[in-house]
Amino acid sequence: MKIALALLFGALACLAGANALAGASLNDQSELQIKEFMGHVMQRNAEQIWQWTAEETDLQGERSGKPVTDEDWENAESDALTLQQLSYGLEHSAYGIPDVEWDRHLASFRAAASASAEAAERKDYPALQKAGDRINEQCVACHLTFKPEIEAPPPPLPDGF
Ligand code: HEC
Repeated sequence: MKIALALLFGALACLAGANALAGASLNDQSELQIKEFMGHVMQRNAEQIWQWTAEETDLQGERSGKPVTDEDWENAESDALTLQQLSYGLEHSAYGIPDVEWDRHLASFRAAASASAEAAERKDYPALQKAGDRINEQCVACHLTFKPEIEAPPPPLPDGF
């Protein structure tokens, strides 16, 4: 049994080595680059929590994402807790920027995500809306410090529009 296991580990080690040589694809890496983490993981999970407070008016009338059933509120809490936990991922050296400002932004972002989870637990819709705005403000605040160009306003429209 020992030998079989050793052989297996040997084979795995070879595979890992071959992967490293061939340049492992994005999905094979346990850590994404910060740009990928933000664009895929943060953005997608933030959209999940914001959908619970989305209010839209169009020709069909008004639509609200407001949680209704116990299950909705539970899901909203889960979405907020997911964001809260992602903030711990951003402490990892693979993503974090060694700067006190990074820690400060991360703490404010985490506090906003926690407030959102607490609001969902209390089924407090106005608090959930407020926390959703607070989360957005914290995304923008960190970007303005570390990557301001992604928050730049769109260029003005050409004359005649
Ligand atoms: C603690 C800092 C910090 C917080 C908080 C933060 N971001 Fe980011 N975000 C960054 C940095 C730094 C980049 C630039 C990454 C790069 O291009 O190298 C970035 C880039 C992005 C991008 C652009 C990705 C791309 O493909 O160019 C998106 C989208 C994004 N963030 C979404 C979010 C959302 C949504 C939130 C909040 C729910 C958030 N971020 C919170 C630091 C942060």
